[in-house]
Amino acid sequence: MFDKSTYVARRRTLCEKMAKTAPEGKRGIALFIGNVEAPAQYKDNCYKWRQDSSWLYYFGLDDPRYAAVIDFDSGEQTIFADDVEIGDIIWMGPQPTVQSKAESVGIYSSAPYKAVDAVVAKAISQGRRIHFLPPSRYYNTIKLSMLTRCTYDEVNIVAEGDGHHASEELVKAVISMRLVKEQCEIDAIDDACALGYEMHSIGRDSIVPGIIEQEIVGKMEAVTISKGWGVSFPTILTQHGETLHNHLHDKIIEPGKLMVIDAGAENNLHYASDFTRTYPTSGKFTQKQRDVYQIVCDCNNHAFSLVKPGISYRDVHLATAKRMLEGLSALGLVHGDLDEMVAQGIAGLFQPHGLGHNMGMDVHDMEDLGENLVGYDPDQKRSDQLGLGSLRMARKLVPGNVITDEPGIYFIPALIETWKSEGKGKDFVNFSRLESYYDFGGIRLEDDVLVTPNGARRTGPKRLPITPDEVEAAMAK
Ligand code: GLY
Ligand code: MN
Repeated sequence: MFDKSTYVARRRTLCEKMAKTAPEGKRGIALFIGNVEAPAQYKDNCYKWRQDSSWLYYFGLDDPRYAAVIDFDSGEQTIFADDVEIGDIIWMGPQPTVQSKAESVGIYSSAPYKAVDAVVAKAISQGRRIHFLPPSRYYNTIKLSMLTRCTYDEVNIVAEGDGHHASEELVKAVISMRLVKEQCEIDAIDDACALGYEMHSIGRDSIVPGIIEQEIVGKMEAVTISKGWGVSFPTILTQHGETLHNHLHDKIIEPGKLMVIDAGAENNLHYASDFTRTYPTSGKFTQKQRDVYQIVCDCNNHAFSLVKPGISYRDVHLATAKRMLEGLSALGLVHGDLDEMVAQGIAGLFQPHGLGHNMGMDVHDMEDLGENLVGYDPDQKRSDQLGLGSLRMARKLVPGNVITDEPGIYFIPALIETWKSEGKGKDFVNFSRLESYYDFGGIRLEDDVLVTPNGARRTGPKRLPITPDEVEAAMAK
């Protein structure tokens, strides 16, 4: 947990932001529901405990079955949870009281968990606004639905003003705060990236033809389980990198392939890292692999060189797409005017995803609150083009943003065949030459980046080897 003053200051800022959304007396209350334990098979055998991230941000308490109410009119703040009884102590040992935990984050009023029901019911009977965030867990959907008298669907709708839905005003206030990382958060992200670096180094050093992919996953995850909370998302480790999120690890490593490893650590403060590297399974790239790899590497570096306050990440994505098309032109896979190809979305055939996303406590930070509200400024509209349309962070960058820089080139036979049969990109794409890449796989190279007042820096103590020469040298050791 961070210092008590961090949580007190965050809630104060939240109250100040919400005060601007309505006149005094009309501001209502915010209802926050922390996560509960989620049974895997039966009630006492649960999935690994993970608290809700917005709850952690404002209340810090990393325990199940907590709720809180902030009254935006009176300023009152109350934590709702149950003290342990003797039956719990037998299994869990003695625990601090809820009141003492509430005080540890600067809240001096606490009540049993069930008492939140009456507080919300009273506010509803008084015609007061109940602000809440859209839930990411099903229990919270049910709990919020019960408390607020919205349907399950309605609690997941985010809209402004009074009514049966989650509060867009609250969502926007939370996003505006969590998008700009404080120094204590940047330190935590650097720490998670140090763990991520170690995970990836072990992963790279373990690549040997003949073993099963799963063995490497186990070695990588051992690092983050022994030194942090665990993985920040299910590890992607595959010789079929053209399948973007391939979570199967059952293949025997074959020589001559490309292996995509996209994996991250979550540290004990619950901040994420998210790195991707692509390795030649034999330790050396073929010339064909090296040529495509170099384009992706150039794109990663080009994107990083452009990151600074004031530029939109949408523009960085587009500039990177142009660089990618330039490289693919040199290989004879596309041809034509580069700006025209960017405008027509031709890069989406090779990179059908965005350049990056926000990262913080969640690896895709706050996407539970709504991808567009998190990643798009009010004057930006999401594209419907393949690739650009999947860009999850398009906003104009400000210092304190933490984003991923993850260009990739993939040869997806089914997608190429679809474009070919539909005549899509026919003026630009060399479909016949592409056929010799159908068994190539994919390449993605991802770093995590902090926007600084004057530009950017990569998070973590060291950058993983990334140029083809660096990768081959590291694998030779
Ligand atoms: N690294 C996984 C993702 O960005 O979706
Ligand atoms: Mn990522």
